[in-house]
Amino acid sequence: MKDLHSIVLDLIKATRNHEQYRDRECINMIASEGIKSPAVCQMLDMSHDLATRYAEGNNNAEGHVEKRFYQGQKYSSQIEDYAADAIKRLFNATWADVRLISGTHANTATFKGLALAAKNNRIVVTPLSCGAHISHDYTGLAGSVLGLENINHVYDVNEFNIDPDKSAYVIRATKPGIVTFGGSLFLFPHPIKELKEACSDVGAYIAYDAAHVLGLIAGGQFQDPLREGADFITASTHKTFPGPQGGVIMGIPDTSIKEKAVRKIQHAVFPLTASSTHLGRLPALGLACLEMKVFGQELAAQIVKNAQVAGQYLYENGIKVVAEHKGFTKSHQLALDVRVFGGGNKIAQDLEDANVILNKNLLPYDDQNDKENPAGLRVGFQDVTRHGMREGDIKHLCDLIMDVIKGKRTSEQVKVDVMALKREFSEVKYGFQNVEEAIKYAKT
Ligand SMILES: Cc1ncc(COP(=O)(O)O)c(C=O)c1O
Repeated sequence: MKDLHSIVLDLIKATRNHEQYRDRECINMIASEGIKSPAVCQMLDMSHDLATRYAEGNNNAEGHVEKRFYQGQKYSSQIEDYAADAIKRLFNATWADVRLISGTHANTATFKGLALAAKNNRIVVTPLSCGAHISHDYTGLAGSVLGLENINHVYDVNEFNIDPDKSAYVIRATKPGIVTFGGSLFLFPHPIKELKEACSDVGAYIAYDAAHVLGLIAGGQFQDPLREGADFITASTHKTFPGPQGGVIMGIPDTSIKEKAVRKIQHAVFPLTASSTHLGRLPALGLACLEMKVFGQELAAQIVKNAQVAGQYLYENGIKVVAEHKGFTKSHQLALDVRVFGGGNKIAQDLEDANVILNKNLLPYDDQNDKENPAGLRVGFQDVTRHGMREGDIKHLCDLIMDVIKGKRTSEQVKVDVMALKREFSEVKYGFQNVEEAIKYAKT
C-alpha cells in the first residue's frame, strides 16, 4: 500500500477528476440522482459549523424539536423546525421529520415505527423484480434487517403497475400491518385510492415511498399520495427533488391511530436508528422547498414531457420502449428493452464510453436470477431537464444514444458530440442562482 501522503494526493486528484468528469463532461441520465442549484449549494457552504454538530432529542406532534440532550442548540433547533415546516408547507402535510439522512433511513424508521404501531410484522410490497427498492424487500432492509414478513402486491406486467383487484384480495387475505407503494423503476402512479378500502378494512398503514418522484409530486405532476389515501410518505430529498442528499418522512396525523404511528416512527428515528442527523443539509433542504414552490410545476411538467417525447422518438426509431400502449411513462423515467442490441449490460457500458451515464435494469419479465444479463436500461430525464433541455434537445440527445445502441458510430465518436452538448447545457435552471436571489424572492 502507498504511504499516507501519496494516498491523500491521489484522493484529491481523484476528487477533482470526478468533478470534472461527471459534472462537466458527462450527460447524466441515472434516474435516482438530482442536481442542486447554485443557491442550494451556497446554503450547504454556509452551514459548515452546523454540519459538525449533534442534536439528539425528541420531537413533538408537529415535527418540531421538543427536547435536546446537548447544550448549544438554540439555532440548530430553530433550523430543524423551519426545515420541517418548509416540507409541511410544500406538501400540505401537518407533520414532517427531517432527521433522516437518506431515503433508506426514512424507510427504516417508518417500517419499524408502523410495525410497532400496528403490532403486526407483515408488509405488502411491490415485487423487487417489478420496481420496488431493495429496502422494501425481504432480501434487504424490510426482511433481513427489520425481520418483517414480506408479501407481494400482485403486479400486472402488461400494465407496468400493481393490479388493484388482485392486490386487494391479497391484502384482505393476509392482513398486513403495512402496505407500501412507490418504487425505483416507477413509470406510472400506483393505485393508492383503489386499495385504500382494503387497507382500512384490515387496519394496515399505507406508506408511500416517493424517493424517486418527490420532485414530481411537489410540482403537482404525479399522484398526490397524501390526498389519495397514503398515511405517510417517505422519500430521499435528492432525486427529482433537487435538494441535498437526505431523507424525509411526512404525513397528516389527523386520527389517534395515525398520531400513535407518528410517536412510534419518531421513536424509531431516535433513539432507535439515528444519532447524528447531519444537520448541515437542513438549510439547503428548506431552500430547495422554496425553489420547488416557485419553479417546481414548470420543472416537473418539462421533466415528464421530455421523458414522454424521448419515449415516442426512440420507439418510432426502432427501440423497444416499454409500456408503449400507455404512453411510455408518467414519471421522469423510461425503461428500454435493448435485448436485441446486446442487452442492458453491454449498452450501459457502451453509453458510459460515450459519456452518457445511465444504468442497466432488470425488467419485470427478465430472468431475475440472471442479474448480470438484464434486457433493460432505466433512463432518467430530471438532470437534463434541469440543465435546460427541451423537446428538440432531447431528440438530439436520443439520436446520439441511438447511434451507440445501434452501433452506427463508435462510443468514442459519439462522446465528442455528447461533451459538446453538455457544454451547451451546463447551467442549472429552475432554481435560484444564489441565496440573495432567494431572499429577494421570499420577501416579495
Ligand atoms: C424507491 C426508493 N426508495 C428508497 C431509496 C433509497 O434512497 P437513499 O438512496 O436516499 O437511501 C431509493 C434509492 O434509489 C429508491 O429508489
